[in-house]
Amino acid sequence: MSSRIAVVTGANRGIGLEIVRQLAAAGDTVLLGSRDLTKGQTAAAHLTAAAPRGDAARSPGAPQLGGGAIRGEATHVEGGATWGEAPHIEGAATWGEATHVEGGAMWGEATHVEGGATWGEAARPHGAATRGGAAQPDGGATDFRGSVGPPQGEVHPIELDVANPAHAEALARTLESRFGRLDILVNNAAIHYDTWQSASGADLDVVREAFETNVLGAWQVTQAVLPLLRRSEHPRIVNVSSEAGSLASMGPWAPAYNVSKVSLNALTVMWAKELRGILVNSVCPGWVATDMGGPGGRPVREGAASVLWAVNLPDDGPTGGFYRDGHPIPW
Ligand SMILES: NC(=O)c1ccc[n+]([C@@H]2O[C@H](COP(=O)([O-])OP(=O)(O)OC[C@H]3O[C@@H](n4cnc5c(N)ncnc54)[C@H](OP(=O)(O)O)[C@@H]3O)[C@@H](O)[C@H]2O)c1
Repeated sequence: MSSRIAVVTGANRGIGLEIVRQLAAAGDTVLLGSRDLTKGQTAAAHLTAAAPRGDAARSPGAPQLGGGAIRGEATHVEGGATWGEAPHIEGAATWGEATHVEGGAMWGEATHVEGGATWGEAARPHGAATRGGAAQPDGGATDFRGSVGPPQGEVHPIELDVANPAHAEALARTLESRFGRLDILVNNAAIHYDTWQSASGADLDVVREAFETNVLGAWQVTQAVLPLLRRSEHPRIVNVSSEAGSLASMGPWAPAYNVSKVSLNALTVMWAKELRGILVNSVCPGWVATDMGGPGGRPVREGAASVLWAVNLPDDGPTGGFYRDGHPIPW
C-alpha cells in the first residue's frame, strides 16, 4: 500500500506515540498530535533521531563490520548504524536485537547496553537513558516503554489540543494545504481514568473535563477533518475506547472515564451508520503499561497493534464495531 496520511491525537506519549511509530515504520506519513507542541517535537525527534541518512552499506550476514550502516546480521559492528541482529555493537545506532551494545543509541532488545540511549527492552542497561522495559537499569532515566525500530515514513508533530476548536480547524487547514486529504484518523487522546471516585459522588467538574477531551474533542476533530477523509480512497476512523466503557461489564468506579467512553462508542455507531464509505470502529487496546494504565499492563506495542488492526482493515472490513486484538467485545 502506498504511503497513507494519518493523524493520531494525544500522540506525544503512551499508546498514541507507539501508534505513530508503527504507522511510520510501515511507511505512512503521520501527523503526531500533541497539545504541547514542544512535547510532540521531542517525541517525534526520539522516533526519527537515528533514521538512516547518507551512505549505507547493505551487508546482511557480515561477520564483522567497521563503520557504515548494516541491515542484517553481524557478529561484531563498530560505528555506523545497524538494523537487525548483532551480538556485539560499539558506537552509533542500532535497531533490532543485540547481546552487547556500547555507546550510541539502541532501539530494540539488548541483553547489555552501556552508555548512549536505549528505546525498547534491555536486560542490563548501564548509564545513559533508557526508554522501555529494563530488567536492571544502572543510572540514567527511564520513561516510556517499548518503542522499537526507526520510522520509514515522515512524522510531523502538530499542536493539537483536541478540546480547542481552533486547533481542530488549523489541523484541517494543514491537511488541506499539505496533503489534500486524510486517510486515517485515530482519536486516541483521553484523560481522567478516575478510579478514585464513584458515580454517586463524582466531581462533575472532572466529568466535564473528561467529556471535553474524550468525547467532544474526538467529535470536533472528526468534524473538522471529515471533508479531508471523504477524499481518501480508503478512509478509516478509529476511536480508541476501553472495555471500561462497555455497558455489559460496567463497574461502579471511574465514572467520568467510563461514561465518556460509552459516549465515544455511541459516536462510533452513529458515524458508521451515517458515513458510508468510511470504516469507523471503536478499539480497546487492552490494559497497557502507560502513565494512564500504570505498571503491570502489557507493552505499548501490543496495545497499539490492537488499534492498528482497525486502521489496516480492508475496504470490505467491518464498521461500527467494538474490538480488542481484532476480536469483537460487547458494548
Ligand atoms: N493504558 C491503558 O491501559 C488503556 C486501557 C484502555 C484504553 N486506553 C485508551 O488508550 C488511549 C491512550 O491511553 P494511554 O494509556 O496512552 O494514555 P496516556 O499515557 O495518559 O496518554 C494520554 C495522551 O493523551 C494526551 N491528551 C490528554 N488530553 C489531551 C487533549 N485535550 N488534547 C490532546 N491530547 C491530549 C496526553 O497529552 P499530555 O502529555 O499533554 O498530557 C497524552 O499524550 C486513551 O484513549 C485511553 O483511554 C488505555
